[in-house]
Amino acid sequence: MKSILITGCNRGLGLGLVKHLAKLPQPPENIFATCRDRSKAKELTALAEASKNIHIIEIDLVETKNYDKIVQVVSEKVGQDGLNVLFNNAGTSSKFTRLGLVKEEQLTETFFVNTVVPILLSKAFLPLLKTAANKYENKSEMNIHRSAIINMSSILGSIGDNTTGGFYPYRCSKAALNAATKSMSVDFKEDGILVTSLHPGWVRTDMGGNNAPMDVDTSISNIINTLNSLTEKHTGCFIQHDGKILPW
Ligand SMILES: NC(=O)c1ccc[n+]([C@@H]2O[C@H](COP(=O)([O-])OP(=O)(O)OC[C@H]3O[C@@H](n4cnc5c(N)ncnc54)[C@H](OP(=O)(O)O)[C@@H]3O)[C@@H](O)[C@H]2O)c1
Repeated sequence: MKSILITGCNRGLGLGLVKHLAKLPQPPENIFATCRDRSKAKELTALAEASKNIHIIEIDLVETKNYDKIVQVVSEKVGQDGLNVLFNNAGTSSKFTRLGLVKEEQLTETFFVNTVVPILLSKAFLPLLKTAANKYENKSEMNIHRSAIINMSSILGSIGDNTTGGFYPYRCSKAALNAATKSMSVDFKEDGILVTSLHPGWVRTDMGGNNAPMDVDTSISNIINTLNSLTEKHTGCFIQHDGKILPW
């Protein structure tokens, strides 16, 4: 792919994605990496200083009124090529997960970051994604080199796989994100934009915690292989880091 925008790149899986993509033998020409506070994103800043194709965009994604500005920044860089991939990675989880402890603000804040943000960001970048999809020669193909929206979901958002209950704010926000993935996949099929929900595995990050069985590098290597293997068969699917299809 020529260009990708990834949200939440100052730490965790987002940072891992930027690192791995920049190290590819043929890295994307433009990697747009968002973070909330550039002054605190030391590792990301060092990466951007070492690779001219990494562009840091500072934005608190809950400030949806600023989306036009970041679309403009990306548009100026990618020009007539449009944006190939929007990777909605930024996400949040809340501490209390059992019904008796759940608070209204945890439900609404988690829903805003994990569901409202990816939907509105997809809406904002749709024209640039369509431009990229239109430029691709073979109009019957769908893949990340043409145009795609990847929504970072979680197995905890699977209704079919829920056997342990709890996690109200997080589960509901990711289940709703999955519903949005499905709708976008239907709505943008004619435009040639592939849309999937992706579960990265249980990974050792601030969110995943120290007990998680997988490290960021393993998850991201698998994710990059899986992204490269996506075709029109995968649009509207819920996929794990290693390519396994998950139940909604
Ligand atoms: N780790 C796992 O085991 C696991 C499993 C399943 C799914 N996931 C999903 O994978 C994605 C990445 O998770 P992670 O493990 O890398 O988590 P993480 O280490 O906690 O990182 C979360 C990222 O999201 C950003 N973010 C949160 N709220 C934001 C906002 N309002 N505006 C801009 N950025 C915001 C954070 O930025 P700040 O530093 O500014 O807060 C940070 O960059 C999430 O969507 C998560 O739900 C993770």
